[in-house]
Amino acid sequence: MAGSTIGSSSKIGLLLPALAFVIVFAASPVPASPAAPGLVFHVGGPRGWRVPDANTSYGWWAMNNRFHVGDKLYFKYENDSVLLVDREDFDACNATEPIARSDDGSTTFPLDRPGFFCFISGHPGHCEEGQRLISHPVLAVFKDMIVSDI
Ligand SMILES: *[C@@H]1O[C@H](CO)[C@@H](O)[C@H](O)[C@H]1NC(C)=O
Ligand SMILES: *[C@@H]1O[C@H](CO)[C@@H](O)[C@H](O)[C@H]1NC(C)=O
Ligand SMILES: *[C@@H]1O[C@H](CO)[C@@H](O)[C@H](O)[C@H]1NC(C)=O
Repeated sequence: MAGSTIGSSSKIGLLLPALAFVIVFAASPVPASPAAPGLVFHVGGPRGWRVPDANTSYGWWAMNNRFHVGDKLYFKYENDSVLLVDREDFDACNATEPIARSDDGSTTFPLDRPGFFCFISGHPGHCEEGQRLISHPVLAVFKDMIVSDI
């Protein structure tokens, strides 16, 4: 992903994702190739990465999926882009200086560390309309830990 910047309208405010009253996206983790340990999550389900409609919310989608380090997010989109930003730019829908940016319509993003990953659309207005996502992968080590009697 190139680290280039784009221009975009950026409004302060609209800080809270609308989580309530929505039906969750089809969460579709697809097992990756046998060699890769992680899952690939298709962001937005079949609709892909686009402005959410009345029935969808990326906040809800992220809350209802469990991400582990080593998983990947797959963004599919048209006439749009996906920007990795810090929390401040996420809250402000500020697309001017993303950490990373991709606009080729098909982006796989590895969740290669624990902690928060904040994504927004770089298309003017889309982030403000709710096209933004925070995922919080956790280390997978406990997933496979064997608990034995001591
Ligand atoms: C939301 O879901 C309802 C019930 O499934 C459906 O009738 C409606 O068309 C959906 N709205 C949108 C914008 O997809
Ligand atoms: C993307 O832009 C092209 C060219 O303007 C247009 O034909 C197409 O319908 C757009 N696709 C979407 C999903 O908006
Ligand atoms: C957006 O981010 C840039 C770079 O960090 C900053 O200079 C600018 O003031 C920010 N704009 C808003 C509206 O927050």
